[in-house]
Amino acid sequence: MDNDDDDDTPQLSSHTLAALQEFYVDQQQRGGTKISEGFKQYSVGSIEEDWQLSQFWYNDETALCLANEAILAAGKGGRIACISVPSVYQKLKEQDGKDFSVCILEYDRRFSVYGEEFIFYDYNNPLNIPENLIPHSFDMVLADPPYLSEECLRKTSETIKYLTKGKILLCTGAVMEEQAAKHLGVKMCNFIPKHTRNLANEFRCYVNYDSGLDRDFSCSECT
Ligand SMILES: C[S@@+](CC[C@H](N)C(=O)[O-])C[C@H]1O[C@@H](n2cnc3c(N)ncnc32)[C@H](O)[C@@H]1O
Repeated sequence: MDNDDDDDTPQLSSHTLAALQEFYVDQQQRGGTKISEGFKQYSVGSIEEDWQLSQFWYNDETALCLANEAILAAGKGGRIACISVPSVYQKLKEQDGKDFSVCILEYDRRFSVYGEEFIFYDYNNPLNIPENLIPHSFDMVLADPPYLSEECLRKTSETIKYLTKGKILLCTGAVMEEQAAKHLGVKMCNFIPKHTRNLANEFRCYVNYDSGLDRDFSCSECT
């Protein structure tokens, strides 16, 4: 691995991260986290986009389509990890009751309102995640890295490869196609993800398995 990728960002140990996580859950339970009036717990957009964090939410149909794809690919009782892709986490939670479990790895601590399923995550420290996230324990890993850069994709890929049992669904710019293939062995799908706002960059989904996003993207839920 290249040494020039290492930066001087101070890193928290997994124990410290776990303690911090506990603190945020506690804060939330004590009512320390304010949520706006009319807040629908899991609806996409209930936490507003912060462009400083490169947040661009999917529209409802895309979030639903990706959530359905994740449930199908993860299988009965499957474990799903959503890395930097909170809208899909929210859509999955709206369908709670189906047989799967899910966690959200996110840099934006506002999502700690979701309690123990929220795991603080910074792609700059891709393997600095709590010890209870066992390597290769997720049936399905989805990710939408915040930046269209080789460094961001490569580091996020480290986390994806650490967590996944095999299946990967990556959403990122069309310009990242070659890098995505190189780091994750994923191929571009026919399905085109859509956002609530029009983005300047063309966005695509990439998978490394036989996916409904490639052959059935025109189903009513996915248009
Ligand atoms: C391009 S958005 C993807 C959101 C996705 N389209 C959705 O609707 O859920 C990138 C995500 O990365 C998160 N993010 C920002 N900085 C990050 C960092 N340093 N490490 C990990 N994730 C980060 C943002 O909070 C945001 O959720």
